[in-house]
This record gives sequence, C-alpha cells and structure tokens, in this order.
Amino acid sequence: MTESAPKAKYRSDYQSPSHTITDVNLTFDLHETATKVVAVSQVKQLAQSSTLSLDGEGIELISVDINGVSWNDYVITDAGIELHNLPSEFELKIENQISPSTNTALEGLYISDGAYCTQCEAEGFRRITYFLDRPDVLAKYTTKVIADKDAFPFLLSNGNKVAEGNLESGKHFVTWEDPHPKPSYLFALVAGDFDVLRDSYTTRSGRHVALEIFVDKGNLNRANHAMVSLINSMKWDEERFGLEYDLDIYMIVAVDFFNMGAMENKGLNVFNSKFVLANEQTATDTDYLGIEAVIGHEYFHNWTGNRVTCRDWFQLSLKEGLTVFRDQEFSSDLGSRSVNRINNVRIIRGPQFAEDASPMSHPIRPEKVIEMNNFYTLTVYEKGSEVIRMMHTLLGEAKFQAGMKLYFERHDGTAATCEDFVSAMEDASGIDLKQFRLWYSQSGTPTLTVTDHYDEVAKTYTLTVNQETKATQDQSDKQALHIPFDVELYDEHGKIIELHCNGVRVGNVLNITESEQAITFEQVNSKPVPSMLREFSAPVRLDFNYSDEQLAFLMVHAQNEFAKWDAGQMLLAKYIKSNVVSVQNGRAVELPELVIDAFRGVILNEKLDHAFISEALSLPSFNEVAGWYDIVDVDAVCDVLKGIKLLIANALQDEFAALYHTLAQFEYTIEHNAIGKRSLRNLCLQYLVNVNEYAHLAEKQYQSANNMTDTMAAMTAANSAALSYRQNIMDDYSEKWSHDGLVMDKWFALQGMNPAEDALENVKNCMSHCAFSLSNPNRTRSLIGSFLNMNPRRFHDKSGQGYEFAGEILTKLNESNPQVASRLIDPLLKFKKYDVERQALIKQELEKLRNLDNLAKDLFEKVSKALES
Ligand code: TRP
Ligand code: ZN
Repeated sequence: MTESAPKAKYRSDYQSPSHTITDVNLTFDLHETATKVVAVSQVKQLAQSSTLSLDGEGIELISVDINGVSWNDYVITDAGIELHNLPSEFELKIENQISPSTNTALEGLYISDGAYCTQCEAEGFRRITYFLDRPDVLAKYTTKVIADKDAFPFLLSNGNKVAEGNLESGKHFVTWEDPHPKPSYLFALVAGDFDVLRDSYTTRSGRHVALEIFVDKGNLNRANHAMVSLINSMKWDEERFGLEYDLDIYMIVAVDFFNMGAMENKGLNVFNSKFVLANEQTATDTDYLGIEAVIGHEYFHNWTGNRVTCRDWFQLSLKEGLTVFRDQEFSSDLGSRSVNRINNVRIIRGPQFAEDASPMSHPIRPEKVIEMNNFYTLTVYEKGSEVIRMMHTLLGEAKFQAGMKLYFERHDGTAATCEDFVSAMEDASGIDLKQFRLWYSQSGTPTLTVTDHYDEVAKTYTLTVNQETKATQDQSDKQALHIPFDVELYDEHGKIIELHCNGVRVGNVLNITESEQAITFEQVNSKPVPSMLREFSAPVRLDFNYSDEQLAFLMVHAQNEFAKWDAGQMLLAKYIKSNVVSVQNGRAVELPELVIDAFRGVILNEKLDHAFISEALSLPSFNEVAGWYDIVDVDAVCDVLKGIKLLIANALQDEFAALYHTLAQFEYTIEHNAIGKRSLRNLCLQYLVNVNEYAHLAEKQYQSANNMTDTMAAMTAANSAALSYRQNIMDDYSEKWSHDGLVMDKWFALQGMNPAEDALENVKNCMSHCAFSLSNPNRTRSLIGSFLNMNPRRFHDKSGQGYEFAGEILTKLNESNPQVASRLIDPLLKFKKYDVERQALIKQELEKLRNLDNLAKDLFEKVSKALES
C-alpha cells in the first residue's frame, strides 16, 4: 500500500449508529459507464449528533439536498461523506454516478454477460450510493429501475412490483416496493434479457407465491432442478421449523460472473449459475446435490438472516452458521443422512482444521477484521454450523425448536447478536450454556486424548478424557470447552452395552467440561470396544490408541453408518502414517491383510447403502492428511496415498469388477438410489483403472456414458491414473463443450489436478483456451484454484515454479478482483507447513505481493498475517 496501512476494526468497538434511515426511495437510470443513482432517504437522529457519516466508495457525487434544499455543508472523505449541522429528522437526497461496466471486482452494481446485477454483501452497497451501509440500519426500500426496453426487458428488485411503464427514447421503468425493512446488504437489482421458468407455491397458511427463475436465454432446460429444490425448501422449512415465506413472489437470477455461491437478497436471490443450471448432460450428481443445498441455504436465510439479521459483521455466524446447519439438515432429511454427515465432517477435518492452524485462524465470531470479505470462511460457516449442531445435540430437537421459536419471538424484524441466539436457546431449554459460549470466542482445534481402563473385578470401564487446544496465531491462551461427547460401548459380540454412571442409566451424550475428566461406566461385564465422538458430536480431533482389531470390529458392529465410516478412516489413518515413515526410509507401501479384509467386508455387506460404501472406500484427501503433521512431507504423503490406492485396487479387483458390472444402469434418474449406484460404480472405476486388465474401462465408459456423472468419472479416472487415452478424451470433451464455460469448468479442474510432470505448463496453455477467462471467478477457481489446492505434487514442485505462477496470477487478480485473489491465496499462507526450501520459496512470493504498491485490503490482511507468523 502506498498510503497508510488499512485499519482493523474490533468487535469490542461496536457502537450503535448515530442515525437511522427508515425509508429509502432509489431510482436507477442504467447506463454502462454512467448509471445515475438518486437516493431519497428519511433520516432520524438517534444519538446527540448533528453530523452524519455515510459510507461510500468509488462513486461520483452529483448533488446533496436536505429537505428539498441544496446542501453544501459536507466533506468527502476516504470512507464516504460527512454531512454537518443537520436537523434531527430530515429527508436526504443524494444524486451520484457509477460505472458498472468497469466494475471487475463484482461488488456493487456490475455487468455479467450483458445483464446488470448487484452484490451488496458485505459492504457493496456503498459502491452504489452514499449510505449507512451497516446491517443494524433497517429501512423500507422502494426502487425504480429505468433502462432500454429492448435490451433489458426484465427490470427486477426486491419485494413486489408496484408500477411499470414506457418512457421516451425506447426506455421503460419498473418500480418495486419491499414491505420488509432490511439492511442495505440485502438490496438487489437485476436488469437484462432472460428466459424465465415459472411455478408457484401455496404456503401452509394459504399465501400464493409466484416462483420465477431467470436464466440466460437458451438455458431453460437446465432450470428444473433448481425449481424443484426451491419448492422442496419451502415445504421443508414449514414442516421442520414451522417457517413460512412472507412475500408474494420469490425470484432467483442465475449469473455467470459471481464471486461466491449465491446471495440471499430479499425476494430476489442472485446465484452463481453453477448453483442453478443442471441437466443430466451437463451436470454431475454432485452438482445436483450442490444446487439443492445452495437453493435451500439461500431460501432458509429468509428467516435466519433476513427477518432476523446481524447487528454487525462480527456476528456473521449468527446467520451463516445457523443457515448452514439448516441446509445440512434439509439435505439430510431429503437424502442420506450418513453420507451428508460424512461429507460435512470431511470439510471440517480437512480445510477447516487447516484454517484453524493457519495464520488466518479466528473464532467463529471474529474479534478483529480488516476486510470483511475475508471472513466468509470455513470457520464462520462450517464450524459455525457445528457449534449450532452441538447445541442441537445438547438440547435435543424439541428444545432446540423451542429455542428457535423464542429467538424469533424476541428478535424478528431486528438485528441481533450471537449472544442473543444462545440466550434464546438457554432460556427456552433451561440448559446452562455458560461455558458453551466459549465456542464463539475461542479459535483453534481442540484435541481430545482418551485413554481407557477396564476393571475386571468392579466391572467398571473408565474413559479418561484430556482436552487441549493448542495456541493459534490469533490467540495464545486457551480454556477448557464444553464438549458434547457421544459414546457407545459394545461387548465382544457387538451388542450395545447400556450406559450407567453413578448408579443411573445415562444417555450417549456426555458433557466434557474440564481439561481432564474421567468417566466411569458401571455394570460392564467384559472389556468393551468404545465408539466415541459418534456423529462427530464436536469439531475436535480424537486421539485414542485403537488396535486394528477394534477398528475392524467397529466397521462391522457399530450401530450407525457414520461410526462405521469413521472407524474405517481411523484404520486407514494408522497405515497412512506408518507408511509415510516407511517411504521416508526407502521402504515400499504395505497394508496388512486385516485392513484389506475389513474393506472387503464393507463392499460385500449387502445391508449397506451403495452411497455409503462408496464413502467408506474413499481415502482421505492429501489436504486432510497434511493436517495431521506440523511439517508435511509432500512427496511421501503423495506416494503413500497413491500406493495405498494401488494396493487396495489390486487386492479387491475382483470385488470391484463384479460391482462395476452389476451396478450398471440404463436410464438416468436423480433419485437417491440411482445416485448411490453411480457413486459406488464410479468409485470402483477409480480403483480398477489402476489394474492393467481394467485400464481400458474409463475409455469405454467415456464413450458410452449417457450422463455427465459417468462422463466425468471416466475423465477423472483417466486423469488421475495418467492413462494413455487421457489426452484423447480430454480433447473430445473440449471440442464438444468449449462453447459452455460452466461445463468446461470440469475440464479446467482436471487440467489443474493433472498429475503429469508438465502439468504447470499445461495449465498455462489452458489459460489461452477460448473458454477460459481470468475475469470469470468460476473459470479461475476451476483451473488455477484446483492447481493450487488439489495438485500438491506439481504445485509444491521443488523448483518453485508453481509458487511463482501463483504469485503472477495473484498480482493480476489483486487489481481486477481482490475477493477472488484473496480466496486463491490461502494455500500460500500455510507455508510454515512445508520444508525450509519450500518455505523460503513461498515466502518470497508473499513478500513480492506485500511490496505491490496497490495491494488491496483483502490481500494485505492475509499477506501481513502470514508474514508475521
Ligand atoms: N450470504 C451469502 C451466502 O452465504 C454469501 C455471499 C454471497 C457473499 N456473495 C457474497 C459474501 C459476496 C461476501 C461477498 O449465501
Ligand atoms: Zn449464507
């Protein structure tokens, strides 16, 4: 930064606003480089202050009027405008101008493929007009949009359409009124030409709601699943949470240029087209499930986020953690609960734990922020959801729902805090959450180290639990947390042992509240096998010295699928770790027969769901394994993961081959059984292609596939096993789909993950592919993001060329789109995890970035934290 370094804001410095805005009347006269915005606000003074500071960034002021009279008593500052000597209540009229076509940051008003659209969360509204751009100022919005009628037949904003008409010189206008007061970050405007998928929904109380999904022309045949998901979301929220929709129209617009997944603007969601568009030819089963989850997520925000919003951005997890919890429950109620849980836990154990261990570590409710966009993190979202889930575990569904009800009774229509939420849960349930609140302020990953002792004479079994949270970069002192610890004990026949403590029958969820705690179970007639942290009852690491036999036993006898899966993962973890040592000492990768047999048992168990078996046979990712080490040996871990995959492939080839054939389906449906079959069959394929005899299977599948799931699985297999025909099918795909960026994203991601030695050169060549553009966040994440995050061997190549490439890309994105740059930089922040040579090379790139004279706040915050570490 040339000027002074950007300043941090602290949670503890919260001050209520000096003024509020009760109503705002906006008029937009859209123009590519000179959109005129007129904002007429009704302002009320709240504190004793005749000065009003409004936020504003990159906008050109035309005029200010107070109560209809031109006002000159103001100064323009770096952060906005300061108006002086104001009356206590007044009408403020501001006219200003903005340039959507040069807005490459995709924040505020910008153009996506010819359509105008907005993104205001977190602090984008200030790029549209001067305003009190903070979530605790709630106003009623009326919005008039004016544009050329032929080019922009659809003019949309929040709420209900109240007027429309034609204007001179080919223009028209539409006026929208949103009856629900809202913060500025929920404002939205869209103007363009679209195809529209229409449907309707009648709420439980009889409100008729028009549902409209706007997609680029020609994409109507890809909007159906989004509509089905929306209707399912509306129904589910009524049934499970008793919450109904509150407007007469719900609109979703799909745009190709979008920094994140989607945005919950009141009545007018804007979505990354990736989370709307799908048909069987263009989207995989995973894409379909992602659409269901994100459509649900944004819909659920209508209550948890919009009706009750956040007082300040430090409270972000209030709406995000809770809404992620709700979308996870939605997906679990509609689909497979265990598979959903497994995938959510993988995210926590992989990238979220990695974030805890990084220079960006922060509690789910951060204390200090430079750029708010940097805090839309796995910690705030995913760990935030785990914190809500722990309360759900401690209270049970009925009391949790009572807590939700009380929360809405108290806070509907207002801006609330995380503390408000916990208080409502506590007051409605009568359960003490005093110590539990520490989850909101303490960062880092706790480790539970457990030892056991069986007393043959007394017939007691004791688990001694130690909890420890290591210091993180943001916080050195850690205290004992309240951890719900879900335990089941099995006897040698696999029967459940009833739990008795202190002479009374107890439930499975025990409360760990101290740094060391012993729990003694009585009436245990033989030494049991414990299943612990069931359902991942807390976001912690578990360390217990299981024998191979105990883990294999749990894979068979544990009563729920998650515990079976987890036992399998622990068994794999033992042998990944021991093989890393082997490889480092020049020995070959080995797996004992017991491990192979345990996994064979899972495959052959006909009682298990196909989708579950597929998860149980999936190895942990490189990134998850990296998290087990302070310093990770990149090459050794890659060798071991590859080696284990080959050993399993060879040992179980007959079982895989048999399943591969019996699971073939002729017709494509997205019903859950069908998804499960494809999932398991394609898992078999990933193993089988590593065996000579079956190496041809992926090509055969690519040629015959009638859906994208199978096509993509074939390409993934060919790519990761570096099969001879890889290039052929990649070329074929590119020829077929190069006109469609969204479909090409899958191809770009494979190029990024390409294990070949010349992967980097290839990635660079892909940047001149006609479907690629660094200005499109989806393309950038697919190609560059996958290279940085999912190609450890090539990205971390000793030459440092991967790091240098990352530095070059980040330098460009720093100027065009700092939000995307700031997400892409994450793997570089973790340089301390690698050997000294690699550390030095990565650091060099971070230093180059720090020295840029136009370094954006987003990168400044992360780079300076990393270099401080
Ligand atoms: N509130 C959005 C969600 O979770 C997140 C989001 C969408 C966002 N676009 C953004 C956050 C841009 C910051 C910047 O659904
Ligand atoms: Zn959200």
